[in-house]
Parts: sequence; C-alpha cells; structure tokens
Amino acid sequence: MSFKGRDIIRIEELKEEEIYRILDVAEKMVPVARGEETTDLLYGKVLASLFFEPSTRTRLSFESAMHRLGGSVLTISGREGTSLKKGETLADTVRMAEAYADVIVLRHPNEGAAALAAQFCSKPVINGGDGSGQHPTQTLLDLFTIKSELGAIKGKTVALVGDLRYGRTVHSLSLALARLGARMIMVAPELIQMPTYILDELNSLGAKYELTEDLGRGIEEADVLYVTRIQRERFPDEEEYMKVAGSYRVTLESLKNAKEGMIILHPLPRVDEIAPEVDSTPHAKYFVQAFNGVPVRMAILTMVLGVIE
Ligand code: NCD
Repeated sequence: MSFKGRDIIRIEELKEEEIYRILDVAEKMVPVARGEETTDLLYGKVLASLFFEPSTRTRLSFESAMHRLGGSVLTISGREGTSLKKGETLADTVRMAEAYADVIVLRHPNEGAAALAAQFCSKPVINGGDGSGQHPTQTLLDLFTIKSELGAIKGKTVALVGDLRYGRTVHSLSLALARLGARMIMVAPELIQMPTYILDELNSLGAKYELTEDLGRGIEEADVLYVTRIQRERFPDEEEYMKVAGSYRVTLESLKNAKEGMIILHPLPRVDEIAPEVDSTPHAKYFVQAFNGVPVRMAILTMVLGVIE
C-alpha cells in the first residue's frame, strides 16, 4: 500500500485497508492538529490550494494542516484575481500550480474538474469538491468522526438526510459506507433523492440501504444522522428549489425517539436544517467533525507526499 504521488479524486479508488490506514495516521496527528505538539514533517513542501467555489472549512483545514506540519501554502480563492478571468483554461492553471508547488488541492464548480486537472499534472491532485460530484476528503473526515465517536463503522446504521441529489458529500460518503459495511437510510423528498447512478454503484457493491421521505424513521433507527443543506446554487431554477425548501428540519422535538448514543453530523455550512438548540445536546458532533478535518488532511498530505507510508 503506497500513497506516494497518488491523486485523491474519487473515494472508490481507495480500498478498505487504505481508508483505515489514513484514519490511523490521522489519529496520530490529533495532538499536532490541536497545536499541543509541533513537527516539521512537511518542512520545505508547498501546497497549492486552488478554490474556485466558496469554502470555509475545507480550505482553512487544508491550510492549517499544511502550516502545522511545517509546510507552506499558495492560495487562490475565487476566479477573481486569477488568469481564469482572462480565459485561461483549468489545464493551464493547474500546470502553473504544479510548477510552483508539490501538491494541489482543487475545488471547482464542475463535476469531473479534479479528474481533468489530474490528467494535466504529475504531482498529486486532491479533489476538494467537484460540483455535484464527490468530496472524498470530507468523506474521510466523516468516517474518522464516526469511528472515533462510535468505535466502529461496520454494522452501524447511517441516515443520510437532505439533498442527496446535488450534495457531493453524501455521494462519496455513501460509496465509502457501502464498502465498509454500514447500513444506510436515505431520507429525502423524491426530487432530491440519491441519483440513480450512485444507487447503481451502491448495488454493485452489495450495499444495504433503503429510501424514505420519513425523517422520523431515519432518526429512530440511526446510529449516525448525517444532515446536509439543500444545495440551492445547483438547482436549475428557483422554482425547483422552492419545491423542497424547508422540507426537513431537525429540532429538539424531532429527536425524542432517537437512540441515546446517536450522533448528528453535518458537513456544514448549515442553513435551517438543524435548529440551533440541538447544538447543546450530546448528539451534536458537527463541530468536532469540522475540527477532524485538520488531522485527516494532515494524514492525506503526508501520505501523498510520501513522508508517511
Ligand atoms: C460541503 C461542500 O462544499 O460540499 N461543505 C464542506 O466542504 N464542508 C457541504 C455544502 O456545501 O453543503
């Protein structure tokens, strides 16, 4: 198993033992991520962080990971201020980034953009989210959170709630959960249920899942309630969006039949799908989950740069 020089584009490119290896390395990175220990593992290495779509957690946690490991960061945040504005292609932009850096993380509004970038780049390309495609590093931190909070992933029931159609985090997470032997309940209005092409992949992996519109059922059966926001910006028009806007909301009242140890995750940002009063319940783990982005991305960076096997 070697990660050196590898791209991280789609979660299904990682075997089960590779996923667990990343989670183990991430565990060891926690004190460094917290700033309790220091290291210069990535001294002299440069990350190009290319974000052509809004981001708070993904960009900042990648950059924090790189800085805390002693490396440095070049950042593009938005098309403004770059030559993409002048009509430069993504391929050429990535060629430039590779001339200036050792590893690239790319977020882009087009599905398939990270895969395309990787074709033009000999250095590792990490997909930081490609349109409605995938978000594999988010999935790794989601898995890390489930494993550290519940002790295991296999055999757990995960209810995926919300925009399963346009949400990239649930696309990659469902494929990983299938591979790792978790059961899924997909809770969404029909218009934003999981796309057929993902369900086909889940079937070929022998995944155990069911589809429902009933949030109550999802809450009752879940060990993990994974809530997502409606991806308003990806709807073809406002009218379509209005058909599902506000169609689900996790409140204190809705949690009364939840299992005692059930955890609530959310990739964030949230809009109105989790009421703020839920934050102070022992179920709420979404802020811990956001922190976990740092040790998990430390693991990914050190491994693709060949500093840790
Ligand atoms: C998600 C994303 O960008 O896909 N955010 C994140 O990276 N934590 C989720 C979202 O935007 O809804």
